[in-house]
Amino acid sequence: MKFNIITLFPEMFTAIDYGIIGRAKENELISLKFWNPRDYTEDNYHKVDDSPYGGGSGMVMLVKPLQAAIQAAHQANSDPALVVYLTPQGKLLNQELVIELASQKNLILVAGRYEGIDERLTKIEPGIEISIGDYVLSGGELAGMVVIDAVARQLPGVVGDADSVKQDSFSSFTGLLDYPHYTRPEVIDGHVVPKVLLGGNHAEITCWRRKEALGRTWLRRPDLLEKIELTAADRMLLNEFIENIE
Ligand code: ADE
Repeated sequence: MKFNIITLFPEMFTAIDYGIIGRAKENELISLKFWNPRDYTEDNYHKVDDSPYGGGSGMVMLVKPLQAAIQAAHQANSDPALVVYLTPQGKLLNQELVIELASQKNLILVAGRYEGIDERLTKIEPGIEISIGDYVLSGGELAGMVVIDAVARQLPGVVGDADSVKQDSFSSFTGLLDYPHYTRPEVIDGHVVPKVLLGGNHAEITCWRRKEALGRTWLRRPDLLEKIELTAADRMLLNEFIENIE
C-alpha cells in the first residue's frame, strides 16, 4: 500500500521507522512518499500561507502549492488515490474507518499546518476529512502517522500474528476492549497472576478472557457495549464479572 504524504515537515515521519511499521517499510509492504507543498510554490519566498480573509489570528495555507503537490502525487500513481485531509473538523477515526482505509491501494494524506487550509482546496481536490480525536494538534502530521500505523497493521503480513490483529482492542472482530495481559514473574510486590492463566486449560482461559474483555468494556466504555450484540453466554459472563467486582 502506498501512502503519499503532503507535508511541510516530512522529517517528522521518521518517528514511524520503528517496530512493526518500520519492518513493513523495509519489507516493502507499505511505502511512504513525500510531497512538500513548499517545492510547488512559484514565488521567490516559497510562500505556503497567508493571512485569513475577514481577519483573525494565525495564517491559512494557500490552495495553489497544496493543489500542485496533490496533483503531483496523483500523477505519480497508476492506481487512483483517495485524498485524506487530517483536520479536527473531520470524521472521527475509529477501527471501522481504519479497515475501510486499508482496502485502498493508494492514500494521499494531507497534513495541514497553521490555522488550517483554505476551504476551497477540498472542492478542487475532493477527499475525506479525518480527525483522530476531539483536541487540536499543531498540524496534521501526527494524525497522519496515527492513520498510517493503524491502517498498515491491517495489511496482510505486517503484523506477524494475524490473530493478534483480530483480537486488538477496538478490533471490529470483537468490538470490545482487550482483556488484561500478564507475563513473568508470577508474583510482583504481592500482586499475583490470575490462577486460571497458570492452569493450562485453554477453554477456561478463553472464557476468562472474554469475561474480562466484557467487564472492562462495561466499566470503562459502556458506549461500545451498546454497539454490539451480546450472546446469551456473553450476558452470563458479564453478570458474573459484575457480581464479583469488589
Ligand atoms: N490536525 C490538528 N488537530 C487534528 C486532529 N485532532 N485530528 C486530525 N488532524 C488534526
